[in-house]
Amino acid sequence: MAELTSAEQGKLDIELAEQNMPVLMKLREEFEKTKPFEGLTIGCCLHVTKETAVLMRTLKAGGANVGLYSSNPLSTDDNIAEALQDEIECHAKRGETYEVYKGYLAKILDMKPNICISDGGELIIEIHQNRPELLEHVIGGTEETTTGIIRFRNMEKDGALKFPLVSVNDSMTKHMFDNRYGTGQSTMDGVLRSANRMIAGSTFVVGGYGWCSRGIAMRARGMGANVIVTEIDAIKALEAHMDGFRVMPMDEAAKLGNFFITSTGNTDVITVEHMKSMKNGAVLGNAGHFNVEVMVKELEESASSKKKVRRDLDEYILDGKKIYLIGEGRLANLVAAEGHPAEVMDMSFANQALAAKHLVDNKGKLKAGVIPLPSEIDVSIAKTKLDESGIKMDELSKRQKEYLAAWGEGAFKSERE
Ligand code: ADE
Repeated sequence: MAELTSAEQGKLDIELAEQNMPVLMKLREEFEKTKPFEGLTIGCCLHVTKETAVLMRTLKAGGANVGLYSSNPLSTDDNIAEALQDEIECHAKRGETYEVYKGYLAKILDMKPNICISDGGELIIEIHQNRPELLEHVIGGTEETTTGIIRFRNMEKDGALKFPLVSVNDSMTKHMFDNRYGTGQSTMDGVLRSANRMIAGSTFVVGGYGWCSRGIAMRARGMGANVIVTEIDAIKALEAHMDGFRVMPMDEAAKLGNFFITSTGNTDVITVEHMKSMKNGAVLGNAGHFNVEVMVKELEESASSKKKVRRDLDEYILDGKKIYLIGEGRLANLVAAEGHPAEVMDMSFANQALAAKHLVDNKGKLKAGVIPLPSEIDVSIAKTKLDESGIKMDELSKRQKEYLAAWGEGAFKSERE
């Protein structure tokens, strides 16, 4: 087979993703007819993957002028970035420096976006902090990560959020599937591609027990690991315990684990002190949005040496022991693998596309602040996904509806009395 250019390979990968994103492809068909974004510019800060490309094409089909830059310096698939460059304004390169990243961000802001689609929050926060003259052009924004939503709620509390921000992450068809099954599979994929070690029989420590961590713990157990969960939230710790995992503080887990993956959304989850008490050969990685969960800078300072042993794996010598770090402590599932599979991004990005449409349809009527996507839209995405998967459900009969609606006599009566 003839050698393909990077852009040609990217286009083939996008086609493959399209095949597995039926909900978004259906929306594309609808958008092609109705053109909800005609005359509007949509600025996006997302991981530049084949699945994101399917969203970009869908927004463009809806009439939008689309700009994209990457929400993480190591998550860009360069083939996809090259493929997209002749379709939309796309600025991203795997391994880009901070200065280059800032330049890309500036290019997207110079497009004066009317809608901002975000993964992590940086594009929107940049407008508020450093480019407030752009606020007058913005109808609203959308955010798909737990981390980003925490930031926007903080802004809202301080009265600093100046336009409506749809919390796509709060849609059921987003967090219950993307965060859990998407992160679960893609993180294990990243661990395997980078470290390529045996999971069965290992002790696998998961930092946190939110939706993402639940997925990682579930998949690690599925591959035969002994899973330990660390938590700071009593309800989640109890849930992890009743799900059958060992729960303990990181101080204790650090001594036992062969693998450590964090996904808490917080900083300093694995400290250098923890690393010093780990077994020789421990593998560390992070699946939370920012690279602050594993204390990488402190590891760099404390280690006596560091060498890159594989593309996405660094070996550090710390107190005479070997510690392996996946993808510089950045999102292991996107840096060392390809992010969540298309099937699940189908729903996440249908939420993003419909959130953008919701903002346009309700321009001027929505309050500034964090707002949910209406649950009818959420349910409609689930129904389309079921339809496209050929799965049928039951429907309530008239008698069942009446029974559920009753509260007086009859509602508590057993048919057998
Ligand atoms: N976040 C997690 N997985 C992703 C993917 N495949 N594309 C874009 N963003 C993602």
